[in-house]
Amino acid sequence: MRVSASPECVEIQLGERSYPILIGSDLLGDSTHFDAVPAAATALIVTNTTVAPLYGEALRRTLAGRFRAVHLLELPDGETHKDWPTLNLIFDALLSHGCDRKTVLFALGGGVVGDMTGFAAASYMRGVPFVQVPTTLLAQVDSSVGGKTAINHPLGKNMIGAFYQPRLVLCDLSTLATLPPRELSAGLAEIIKYGPIYDMAFFDWIEANIEALVGRDPAALAHAVRRSCEIKAAVVGQDERETGLRAILNFGHTFGHAIEAGMGYGRWLHGEAVGCGMILAAHLSQRLGGVDAAFVQRLSALVERAGLPVTAPALGAERYLELMRIDKKSEAGEIRFVVIDKPGSAVMRSAPDAVVREVLAQCCAD
Ligand code: NAD
Ligand code: GLY
Repeated sequence: MRVSASPECVEIQLGERSYPILIGSDLLGDSTHFDAVPAAATALIVTNTTVAPLYGEALRRTLAGRFRAVHLLELPDGETHKDWPTLNLIFDALLSHGCDRKTVLFALGGGVVGDMTGFAAASYMRGVPFVQVPTTLLAQVDSSVGGKTAINHPLGKNMIGAFYQPRLVLCDLSTLATLPPRELSAGLAEIIKYGPIYDMAFFDWIEANIEALVGRDPAALAHAVRRSCEIKAAVVGQDERETGLRAILNFGHTFGHAIEAGMGYGRWLHGEAVGCGMILAAHLSQRLGGVDAAFVQRLSALVERAGLPVTAPALGAERYLELMRIDKKSEAGEIRFVVIDKPGSAVMRSAPDAVVREVLAQCCAD
């Protein structure tokens, strides 16, 4: 999966916490792409049992010229391991290798590895530098950018974490060649998300290129990753800590997190739950007057063409409402949804439970 020799760079502007997002092919093997990383004696690559055999050695070799010691930690793979015991394995490795407060952590993998490594970096010795090396489409277009780090709690998704920015994000598109099709589709959900909330011209482009994206056309993937990162960088640059605007990036996530938690973490992929959650959120937007039925149908068709589920699981309306109340956007027990107020623009709204129940009745399996 080759695009161009020199990577494209999207800057995320956050004052002293600004950093580059490099996007290109075959980046892992070239140590000059890591010039933004602070000098240190020790590096710890955090990855998992699936990604380590694919890309662990290549990254270790590249970093060997920059650090005296490069350690590699393989975590168990999966959303079910995004928890305290697995996070603690990172602290165990840091302490047993005698890592100091200059040690740089490298998150090599998808969003699960990225979120956990970022959280470990935020808290080890009160904060050490870290680098995101995302290897899933979802992580390249969303989770590696913007500094949200977290683990799950049995009662709620991503409930324990910190805002903590990486020093560099390195999106090597070549790593997408080994991604299973279901994971590729999960990443497409987060790409589609940027259209309704921010950029309908991008939505038109995705509609016209969805087969190329599903077929992993290198130029199409490169454009989709770059535009997604540009949008995410623009939003996070205005509202790093989600006091307002950044919440729009959670379009589909209130329903989606309920699906993930309600089904048991790992049964539905995060991107699958977000894809389906966007359809429910679009129906809610229609009922609140932001979009028409044709728009909802357009979004739903695109989600389906991306290879994602479009019918929500039958958890029962009361269970959905219970799960959605635990969402981080809730205030005083009132659920707040990201809804489309006009195509290309999103806002946060509460909605009467009765309207939410109508949406669930319309969109859930029998
Ligand atoms: P994931 O990290 O579980 O990765 C998906 C699967 O692909 C895993 O089995 C992984 O081992 C495997 N994999 C990774 N790279 C591969 C490659 N190149 N080839 C083959 N297999 C590969 O899932 P994800 O979809 O990347 O991330 C989902 C997580 O990200 C969720 O926990 C979600 O909450 C989080 N997230 C965080 C943010 C944020 O802003 N921090 C945003 C969106 C999602
Ligand atoms: N994925 C949502 C955010 O980063 O804010």
